[in-house]
Amino acid sequence: MDADALLKSRRSVRRYRQDPIPLATLREIVEVARYAPSGGNRQPWEVILVHEPEVVREVFLDVAWHPAVGAPPEGKRPVAYVVVISEGKPRVSDCASLVTYMLLAAHARGIGTCWIGSIKTARLAEALQIPDDYSIVFVVSLGYPDERFEAYENAADTSVTLEGGVVRVPKRPVEAILHENTFRR
Ligand SMILES: Cc1cc2nc3c(=O)[nH]c(=O)nc-3n(C[C@H](O)[C@H](O)[C@H](O)COP(=O)(O)O)c2cc1C
Repeated sequence: MDADALLKSRRSVRRYRQDPIPLATLREIVEVARYAPSGGNRQPWEVILVHEPEVVREVFLDVAWHPAVGAPPEGKRPVAYVVVISEGKPRVSDCASLVTYMLLAAHARGIGTCWIGSIKTARLAEALQIPDDYSIVFVVSLGYPDERFEAYENAADTSVTLEGGVVRVPKRPVEAILHENTFRR
């Protein structure tokens, strides 16, 4: 897959097959993503790779899913998570950069992901024994995709919908976002 096709075909996946992802592959995703850009090259991120089924079940209790799609039922839940943390205050932009790289590294390996910002952080910090001087910034869920989805162009409405079992994801057309040289084209 070329880079453009990879970028355009990645979708948030919230239903997964239950086949485990090889641990080496999960580690590779983190290994690749650490090349992401960060302010001043500070790389203020650390990650907790959660793959033991017992801990995976704990994390599921502390994350929320897009209401249009809903939480995955038993048997379709993520098989792993990456919990992205930063020391001190949450380094949101830098951690977002890392997450973007992880999503694409996973997608390139046929692994579906969902970027999760809606987190019960106090509960998750306790479950994962994260020290008080760290912030939980994002969670990424992972698993082999078991969901149908499509992206389409829509300038007026950016609402994600579930239609006939297909997650439909509108994307704003380039004309709606692109200015050239000055704001007033
Ligand atoms: C900062 C951020 C936070 C997000 N938080 C959640 C979340 O808590 N739960 C969820 O199901 N999806 C979450 N998403 C995924 C978005 O819903 C998804 O990216 C969006 O609907 C576009 O779909 P696509 O990823 O398939 O292009 C988040 C995405 C971003 C960038």
